[in-house]
Amino acid sequence: MLMARIQLKTPSQIVAMRRAGLVVQKGLATMSAVVAPGVTTAHIDAVGSTVLAEAGAKSNFLGYGAEWGIKPYPGVACVSPNEMVVHGIPSKRVLHDGDIVAIDFGAIVGGWHGDAARTIAVGDNVSAEAKALIAATREATWVGIAALWGAVQISDVSAAIQRFVEHQPRRYGIVRDYTGHGIGTEMHMLPDIPNFGRPGRGPRISPGLVVCIEPILTLGKPDVAELDDDWTVATRDNSWAAHWENTVAVLEDGLWVLTEPDGGAAELAARGVPLASIARD
Ligand code: MF3
Ligand code: CO
Repeated sequence: MLMARIQLKTPSQIVAMRRAGLVVQKGLATMSAVVAPGVTTAHIDAVGSTVLAEAGAKSNFLGYGAEWGIKPYPGVACVSPNEMVVHGIPSKRVLHDGDIVAIDFGAIVGGWHGDAARTIAVGDNVSAEAKALIAATREATWVGIAALWGAVQISDVSAAIQRFVEHQPRRYGIVRDYTGHGIGTEMHMLPDIPNFGRPGRGPRISPGLVVCIEPILTLGKPDVAELDDDWTVATRDNSWAAHWENTVAVLEDGLWVLTEPDGGAAELAARGVPLASIARD
């Protein structure tokens, strides 16, 4: 039987991936800084393009899909406000005070990919409910990342994320149509990492694994639909959604969150997970 393989990386390849991760992190920080009432989602994408150009990095989003005959993705970022879940095509849509917006961004540096997402509040009048949704989605991501350390199989990570979400004081929908994924010389590689599931299944977690952990939660039902632009995905019930994502490497002696400025040091320490020694060099 032909078995699809997971691309395991050497420590020096992971050091090379960190360069892509830092460009992604910088892009997300720079785009987040311009988010304000009155700004269009196209403007946010344009800021992302500038960061890539200044870093000498390529976009892994722009033109994505062409090789499978899908309409090529037309931006360098996915910008998904409110009821949009993922893959929001940058447009003239204006952000308003009280909105939330998910920004998903990637970069290729030296042939290695990085991919991460943040959801942020627009203006000062975001509801407590929407802020809690964002906080829970961010935390679910860190729970999944921390689970990579000590977990044996991929679905142990999935189960940890689901368990965390189901123990929140409020009920959230977990979007099932999109999963985390391996990443390396391509953006989407094996293994898939669902945000729900029973433990004890799937590929084994081992040093050299590099994955994106990316939960997507909603304030309503988890059901989503693609809009007729062939990309933008929105909730069916129009409830708001939040998305958070980081690219994470598993090393022999700890984890390295490649798309965080501190490599994940603070959040990993808070969860008793070691930061990989190469992240400290
Ligand atoms: N970055 C997304 C993910 O988290 C995928 C983006 S699709 C693209 O997996 F078309 F925009 F590239
Ligand atoms: Co991803």
